[in-house]
Amino acid sequence: MITNIETGTRVDEVARGIYQISTRLDVIPGGFTFNSYLIADDEPLLFHTGYRKLFPVIVEAIEKVIPAQKLRWIGGSHFEGDEFGALNDLLAAAPEATPFGAEIGVLTSINDFAAQPARGLQDGEEFSIGSRRMKWLYTPHVPHGWDCGILFDLSTRTMLCGDLFTQPGANMPAVTETEVLTASEGMRAMMDYYAHATSTSAILERLASLRPSMLACQHGSAYRGDGAALLRELGATLERE
Ligand SMILES: [Fe+2]
Ligand SMILES: [Fe+2]
Repeated sequence: MITNIETGTRVDEVARGIYQISTRLDVIPGGFTFNSYLIADDEPLLFHTGYRKLFPVIVEAIEKVIPAQKLRWIGGSHFEGDEFGALNDLLAAAPEATPFGAEIGVLTSINDFAAQPARGLQDGEEFSIGSRRMKWLYTPHVPHGWDCGILFDLSTRTMLCGDLFTQPGANMPAVTETEVLTASEGMRAMMDYYAHATSTSAILERLASLRPSMLACQHGSAYRGDGAALLRELGATLERE
């Protein structure tokens, strides 16, 4: 469903109760998409706020699914404008929401930036948002950011994987069952957005062991399929370099 004619922002349910809010911006040749994920449950959760300037279209899209003031959790993978830029505008719209991120992210950035105290999640920590449990995995420097982590919905096995498997392009389907590694490797060749860390393949293997059925990317299509196989293929590719 297109929720804003001017920006082309759309909302699609990509897994049970998980809504992808996607806006394309011409930040690179060929275009690029910015996705937020709204999980509609007793305590609705938003992962990636989008840039601050995108707040009006993000809140407009959220409102097509739930009243924005019902949001209880607002977080992201790591502290960057596309992940947390609209946080304070969203907190004004949803005063009962708690910002969250990795413990180190809360320490270094989120608590400095946010209008309300944030919750720092420990590696492996689980929390309930109603009918489902979410699990936080701390993934420092994978693909980048000391404070990087991913959020995993244990009930649908959806991995909110942030900048992993970033695919360029403007007109991306919400979900694809075609592998996204080739496209994301093309992006990595164009812009070296990975930290050159030593523990990357061990972290990717740890994510694979969760056997995600969907990789919900922040940029590009969400991939429905054998997420573990794709994570292991990415790990092997990085190892070869
Ligand atoms: Fe990033
Ligand atoms: Fe990003």
